[in-house]
Amino acid sequence: MKITYIAADGTETEVNAREGDSVMQAAIANDIDGIIGECGGSMMCATCHCYVDDAWVEKTGPQHDGESDMLDCAASEVKPTSRLSCQIKLTEELDGLVVHLPEAQI
Ligand code: FES
Repeated sequence: MKITYIAADGTETEVNAREGDSVMQAAIANDIDGIIGECGGSMMCATCHCYVDDAWVEKTGPQHDGESDMLDCAASEVKPTSRLSCQIKLTEELDGLVVHLPEAQI
């Protein structure tokens, strides 16, 4: 399945991702610069902050419990579409997902 990461400067990178991985794991596996994922996906860091593309917000669903608290620690502006990318699990219906990366993670 494919995911497109759009960096803050507009650079788009499409990667092949595995179903079952998180959007954070897929970014790390494909050397996407804009995602750090320092805590390894346990909702303890906010360095995996991303903005879900407007067209995909409905499919990725709402923030999980505790996500917004952690996002308060994010380095970049938090928007209504902000998510911790480690909390978005890739399912078949997210094939083609587009996420935008914040200017900074730390
Ligand atoms: Fe740390 Fe997502 S990787 S909160």
